[in-house]
Amino acid sequence: MPYTVPKLTDFSAGALDGAKRELLSALEQESAAVASENDWKTFRDRWMARKNGILTQLNDQWLKAAPGPNKREVGQLVNELKLIVDHRAGTAYANVDTFADVVGHPTMRGNVDEVKALISARRWKSEAPFDVTLPGVRRPLGAEHPVMKTMNELIAVFRNLGYSVEEGPEIETDFYNFEALNFPPNHPARDTQDTLFIAGQESKPARDRLLLRTHTSPVQIRTMQKMKPPVRVVCPGKVHRNDALDATHSPIFHQLEGLAVDTNITFCDLKGTLDHAMKAMFGSSVKTRFYPSFFPFTEPSADVQISCIFCDGKGVRDGAPCRNCKASGWIELLGCGMVDPNVYGFVDYDPAKVSGFAFGMGVERIAILKYGVDDIQLFFNGDVRFLE
Ligand code: PHE
Repeated sequence: MPYTVPKLTDFSAGALDGAKRELLSALEQESAAVASENDWKTFRDRWMARKNGILTQLNDQWLKAAPGPNKREVGQLVNELKLIVDHRAGTAYANVDTFADVVGHPTMRGNVDEVKALISARRWKSEAPFDVTLPGVRRPLGAEHPVMKTMNELIAVFRNLGYSVEEGPEIETDFYNFEALNFPPNHPARDTQDTLFIAGQESKPARDRLLLRTHTSPVQIRTMQKMKPPVRVVCPGKVHRNDALDATHSPIFHQLEGLAVDTNITFCDLKGTLDHAMKAMFGSSVKTRFYPSFFPFTEPSADVQISCIFCDGKGVRDGAPCRNCKASGWIELLGCGMVDPNVYGFVDYDPAKVSGFAFGMGVERIAILKYGVDDIQLFFNGDVRFLE
């Protein structure tokens, strides 16, 4: 029975792979059976004729029939098969072995490079213990992780505002993670960050002891040490806290830090920047509100809330109190403030001349809102079904 293109109803990866294998094995058999130029023409028309050739049928019966969510994958498969068929049936015919054969071949006249390539492929084909002209194993392409995707979107928003990207180490010293950020030794503010310390550091001076950074704010210090104002940077990265895991906490998560220092930077600039960024991430109808807060390295400090994207800030959804914002209409999203003048003392900036703002946001938190994820653990379990 000659091969016919099956109608597909099942578009799962397994079914597509089966259909692909069936088609390729038919292609292989039929191309091996080509023994004359006439055979080759029949073979080529059967696979490649614009009207009703097998490739055309793939378009109609696989690609057009595929439901929306499967279109992309089926499209990729059909394109891949087109290339293979084109290579098999479009340029070669099975009996060419010599230069003369090939040059005489109707599709080849005059194209010396292609002819040479074809001849060396033919040689390979007869000498190699396997068919080197067969396509390689196709590995499924992964998708961007939702946390990285969110991070990249955030970075893009700030790049468009003229920010550049700076990174720092995940294993930090006490100095960068705390001291230079105005957390004095033994100050209770340190207790708000459940720090994981590297063992065996007792002999070192306190400020040199190593720990897993609890936030990306140390990159503010590192940046100011190496750059003079004006500074406009965002600092993406992984941070660690000694938190037990539950639906909203993970001992490892990601932050995006921001820092802008120049002459005459005001709280207005901070508000405008973050309001713009939240609108860029969540849509232009989202509102922001700044709520007094405390961080040792910013003064004044604020928590930023956005109007609830689930109930449009109404606090009520479908007649019931909105669960996402606990009926308040607002969702708390990030911390920020004006850089505390004490911090400039640690990096040799003159607090009389410069001013600036900083902010830090949890990337998982933003991804949870954007994608409606109900458990932060899903980001880290590596379950392909979730990632898809
Ligand atoms: N580093 C703070 C935190 O992790 C967030 C923050 C960054 C606050 C920058 C103010 C300015 O909680």
